[in-house]
Amino acid sequence: KEAKLWGGRFEESTTDAVEKFTQSISFDKALYKHDIMGSRAHASMLARQGLITDGDRDKILKGLDEIEGRIERGEFAWRTDREDVHMNIEAALTDLVGEPAKKLHTARSRNDQVCTDFRLWCRDAIDAIVLRIKHLQVALVNLALKNEGLIVPGYTHLQRAQPVLLAHLLLAYVEQLERDAGRLLDCRVRMNFCPLGACALAGTGLPIDRFMTSEALGFSAPMRNRLPFSLAVPFCCFVLPVDFASLELLMTLIYINSIDAVSDRDFVLEFLSANSITAIHLSRLGEEWVLWASEEFGFLIPSDSVSTGSSIMPQKKNPDPMELVRGKSARVIGDLVSLLVLCKGLPHAYNRDLQEDKEPVFDSVKTIMGMLEVSAEFAENVTFNQERIRNALPAGHLDATTLADYLVKKEIPFRTSHDIVGRAVALCVSRNCLLQDLSLDELRSISVTFDKDVYEFLGVENAIKNFSSYGSTGSECVSNQLDYWVTKLDIS
Ligand code: ARG
Repeated sequence: KEAKLWGGRFEESTTDAVEKFTQSISFDKALYKHDIMGSRAHASMLARQGLITDGDRDKILKGLDEIEGRIERGEFAWRTDREDVHMNIEAALTDLVGEPAKKLHTARSRNDQVCTDFRLWCRDAIDAIVLRIKHLQVALVNLALKNEGLIVPGYTHLQRAQPVLLAHLLLAYVEQLERDAGRLLDCRVRMNFCPLGACALAGTGLPIDRFMTSEALGFSAPMRNRLPFSLAVPFCCFVLPVDFASLELLMTLIYINSIDAVSDRDFVLEFLSANSITAIHLSRLGEEWVLWASEEFGFLIPSDSVSTGSSIMPQKKNPDPMELVRGKSARVIGDLVSLLVLCKGLPHAYNRDLQEDKEPVFDSVKTIMGMLEVSAEFAENVTFNQERIRNALPAGHLDATTLADYLVKKEIPFRTSHDIVGRAVALCVSRNCLLQDLSLDELRSISVTFDKDVYEFLGVENAIKNFSSYGSTGSECVSNQLDYWVTKLDIS
């Protein structure tokens, strides 16, 4: 058996069962790119600080290039006995370039290395998710544009409530997705600090330059306890007044130290919380579209390309992608819960338990990306059954609230007008007719305030025309919303 990189004090080799149980290479090899990126920055810093020679640095950098190439070509042999991605790469580098590679881990621990890699990985993942959120927003806005003017029943308690424009409903999802992206980007700001150089937990006595590695890796700053005065002054004068993100940055610099840097995983807790909220939004969209695609609603027609069939019932056409969007939201929430439970009892600083943080994050990211992609594809491949929707609109007295507002405009107190319209609805229910079918005499038998202009307030079209408040489903307001999103999302 090969000696472990940490094997100096050990007299026995680890058992196969322990090796198999403690390994993380089977999943953390996903971090290889970011691990190599971190090592490049670290080696360059060590050389500039005189901790290794420029010659050693060059051999290390060349070796890392070679290893990266081999991994990408599928020629790299990942070894379980080398435990994790960090030691696999370091050991392979030693095999490749010899002595200089043994200097790479100077002033570095796997504890700061792993959370540096992980922050870099998550940062890229956030960017990829935010991009997919935008694609889904574009698909929903396009769907809204295609159906501008289409009135649908709006529901509360899943009971008929008031008429709304379909575009208004679709844009509600667009708003929610915008906040989802915002949460991820906020989380990215807090995440983007560099733990590298915190070493095992305490920092180091070697003259490293954490600002150099942090900058090389695109972080805002190293994670440490205090901003040095020389940096704090220009920071406060020039950066701070600029935006809120910079204020966040300053706060983080003040509160974070090397022990915190290697022991906390709040950055992934926050990330997966944001993913969970996005997943819940997508799940609600899934639920709504599954319902709408049912025979009972019949409002939504998914194209064959986004539907699947039954192995036994020849007639079936199911909206499985959106059912799975709803179903997979459970995984995303589960991933967050796993991480929360993982972290809850850990003493400071690093604990091996933290190795269990990777898989839930990888799963959450893979799942949410799939959910976003398939939701966008579904949105691009559905049509709304206009006839079915039109025929459905009269049921449920969707114009009742508009009628109550009509009476308010005639100076009837709202509570009284609610009661009057309630009695008109009861009459309709007993006669199985619509509010607009009641004659003026019938209406006036309930309240003398009704006049012949009442018919301009009845029916869903009139109801929609009447909405005018800011953010309402009135045509003008919805068209303003559409204009806003078309510009904001750069839709041509
Ligand atoms: N594979 C470990 C992880 O993912 C890396 C850090 C291990 N550190 C240690 N001292 N055992 O957390």
